[in-house]
Amino acid sequence: MNDAKITVPALLARKLRGPKIAVLTAYDATMARLLDQGGADVLLVGDSLGMVVQGLTNTLPVTVEEICYHGRAVARAARRAHVVGDLPFMSYQSSVERALDSAGQLLKTGGFEAVKLEGGQRFAEHVRAIVSAGIPVMGHVGLMPQSVHAMGGFRVQGKADSDAERILADARAIAEAGAYAIVLEGIPSELGQRITEAISIPTIGIGAGPACDGQVLVSYDFLGMYPDFKPKFVKHFAELGAQIVAATQSYVQEVQSGVFPAPEQSFGALPKKAPPLDTGNQPVIAAPPAGYGPASEDS
Ligand code: KIV
Repeated sequence: MNDAKITVPALLARKLRGPKIAVLTAYDATMARLLDQGGADVLLVGDSLGMVVQGLTNTLPVTVEEICYHGRAVARAARRAHVVGDLPFMSYQSSVERALDSAGQLLKTGGFEAVKLEGGQRFAEHVRAIVSAGIPVMGHVGLMPQSVHAMGGFRVQGKADSDAERILADARAIAEAGAYAIVLEGIPSELGQRITEAISIPTIGIGAGPACDGQVLVSYDFLGMYPDFKPKFVKHFAELGAQIVAATQSYVQEVQSGVFPAPEQSFGALPKKAPPLDTGNQPVIAAPPAGYGPASEDS
């Protein structure tokens, strides 16, 4: 693997020359470092963090500040990968000016190299303005999680011919407005292929079939951390969820049985096992002295 930093021009060139672009989401420095070492081309701090990190049922409450907080952690760890931040719900929809301000904030305080926004033709003007300010934009059409209520749930989009034509027109409009890549989410594979062939920027699919120029998965999904929830487009490349549960069970068992910590994990000589105290009817622990409380800096 070439260690050179992945840039916007390098990603654009991959549309013609390959290899396909491998994108994963990341939300913290430790995971970002590992995904970067593994060769992920792009790390996306998606607003999916609302669901996988914060435990929400959708992405709507996520804020620009939260995206920037996680972005700084990811950007510190990513050596090679290109780092993209999601513009969260209502951080750009209300006006072009708002979109420009939010995108600027992501680059100024989130450590991002590009922003991603959901939306088609209606947001072409927003994309044009952000790109004119020198901020690379990744589009996102098809299933748009920020429109979950309008779509009636997280449903595959573009099955009817008229919907497919609209999504194709959306992708064209975002590409023509200057986006350097576009996520295609939750659409039939044939439509993924049609869009990929129709536009000059790389398409990054998630449930959009194999013809896309790249693929993206939520890192918690591809690592198998949700064993009970596996949408059709997700493949588990590891079963870390099951491993974490098993490791926790071993830890609990060793703590309770006194096997952990062993001499290898302890400093100095181990305390001799004292015989149990004969306390008669007295309590083992006396009442705390007056003034007892949390340790302070100088205690
Ligand atoms: O928020 C996110 O993680 C995303 C990807 C799934 C594309 O938008």
